Amino acid sequence: MWLEGSDGSQSPAVVRGLPTGRRLNGSRVLSPLGRAVTEEWVDWHRNYDSDPTLRERLRTVQARLREALDRLPAGPVRLVSACAGDGRDVLGALDGHPRAGDVRALLVELSPDLVAAGRAQALGQGLRGVEFRQGDASDSSVYAGAVPADIVLLCGIFGNVSDADVRRAIREVRSLCAPSATVIWTRGRFAPDLTPTIRSWFAREGYEELSFVTVPRSTKAVGANRLLSDPPPFRPGVRLFTFLPKEERPSSRSETPRRNSRAPTPAARTRRGAGASSPNPRRSTVPRLRR
Ligand SMILES: C[S@@+](CC[C@H](N)C(=O)[O-])C[C@H]1O[C@@H](n2cnc3c(N)ncnc32)[C@H](O)[C@@H]1O
Repeated sequence: MWLEGSDGSQSPAVVRGLPTGRRLNGSRVLSPLGRAVTEEWVDWHRNYDSDPTLRERLRTVQARLREALDRLPAGPVRLVSACAGDGRDVLGALDGHPRAGDVRALLVELSPDLVAAGRAQALGQGLRGVEFRQGDASDSSVYAGAVPADIVLLCGIFGNVSDADVRRAIREVRSLCAPSATVIWTRGRFAPDLTPTIRSWFAREGYEELSFVTVPRSTKAVGANRLLSDPPPFRPGVRLFTFLPKEERPSSRSETPRRNSRAPTPAARTRRGAGASSPNPRRSTVPRLRR
């Protein structure tokens, strides 16, 4: 069920914007460079196997998602997830949930391997309402037809974009929201901790805070906010955020446990950026989903 993933090439050090080629039937064709970028993220997903705090973050996201489903009235539920990875948060939350059959979900992810893995998993769970779309989650156009959404996931994004883009995403994502939509988001609290500011930005944009949970023994944090103000109409073609080159990402300051138990040398730290996730040159398969 799980597909063969990366081929061992290293992630490029600096890539700005989205390295895609032409479009075919609405899906993006990745350039060799784009393919290498997405391989970095296939590798990132392996941290779910080695990092218990990342799994705790996952459980927290899933709990917030189930609570959001529990709050919604009977009938269809629309959900969108930006930069969805292999969708284990959504798929795990829906597994056995009484509202799973009501959910029409669009999960947008750049990596073809992660999309393929997520599709296979959704199929295996019999979740016919879950669609994975390979595309650019930072362009609002990709959500056309799937919004306004009752639940929006922005997980694994805020640590990889500029502070200004976090602000922009919080503002612009309202146009993906249905009235009273729940937005679930993550961000590390590594210094300088932006989460107090992020929470104030949500408040300023008319969201109430449902919860803000920190993961013990880590900097990880999960927020859930509900939009109380009237959502603006959906507008295609709006840029929601832009992933930064790896060295410039705030998440490069975080504490990502290493698969190799030996401490990194100072030189290795400098090459990778201190505490940044470490690409493993010996890649094999997309990691198995754990719920
Ligand atoms: C930190 S991971 C988070 C994955 C997932 N949301 C989770 O929390 O497990 C970031 C993901 O964003 C994806 N990504 C990065 N830029 C993207 C873009 N412009 N459009 C779609 N996906 C993107 C990466 O491929 C990667 O899977």
